[in-house]
Amino acid sequence: MKTVIIHGQNHKGSSYNIGRALANKIATENEITEFFLPRDLNHFCLGCYKCLESETKCPFYDEKHVIESAIESAELLIFTTPTYCMRASAPMKSFIDLTFINWMPHRPKAYMFQKKAVVISTAAGAGTSKAIKDITTCLFYWGIPYIKTLGFSIQAMSWQEISASKKQKIEKAIDKLCNELKKVKKPKVGFRTKFIFNLMRMNVNNKELISTPLASDYWHWHNNGWFDKKRPWL
Ligand SMILES: Cc1cc2nc3c(=O)[nH]c(=O)nc-3n(C[C@H](O)[C@H](O)[C@H](O)COP(=O)(O)O)c2cc1C
Repeated sequence: MKTVIIHGQNHKGSSYNIGRALANKIATENEITEFFLPRDLNHFCLGCYKCLESETKCPFYDEKHVIESAIESAELLIFTTPTYCMRASAPMKSFIDLTFINWMPHRPKAYMFQKKAVVISTAAGAGTSKAIKDITTCLFYWGIPYIKTLGFSIQAMSWQEISASKKQKIEKAIDKLCNELKKVKKPKVGFRTKFIFNLMRMNVNNKELISTPLASDYWHWHNNGWFDKKRPWL
């Protein structure tokens, strides 16, 4: 299964190792592409709104494009992040900001509605659910219909320090998820995604937008045929 892993950290700690263990079970080595943040996208969104005109006008388009092209051709996306101060890591948040144009209120990409995603976070104690939610919210608004999560409180600061019994539990959870992922051939787009898509469709289906900075959003929906009967999941 072609897999892209986006790590919200440069180092190879617990979150990395769990993400990698899942990928290794589900994909061959040459089916896996990995990105590390901030190594592969070392920027914050400037709030310039150039992307509203055209994605290619983002000052960081070249680096973003490499990651987005890999995402486009993957079947499975894996996101890993350590829990930092009860949230996703700052580089992961920055990545989310830099892709906001892909959100359903703007210009969702049709291919996202076919993807599977897994979000993984580890914490020493508490906070994985909030760190994971930062990412799953983004993926939902990208249109990804199948999102699974793995959060572990590891009572450790490194992968090496994790107890053998905890590692066994992690291994079991990875195996279970791996079996689920293999069973799902074409993820089903759920009611909530369809509802939000249709709500956004009503907002964007407004010819007055053509003379505003949101013109590209209007034309994106128009050119995809989404103001007519076409839908990205059909
Ligand atoms: C800046 C920073 C903030 C952290 N915040 C939390 C936290 O809010 N809750 C928690 O349980 N652990 C916290 N930790 C511990 C890490 O989440 C934990 O060690 C995690 O497993 C690290 O994952 P990694 O090995 O993938 O880097 C924090 C660690 C750092 C360095």
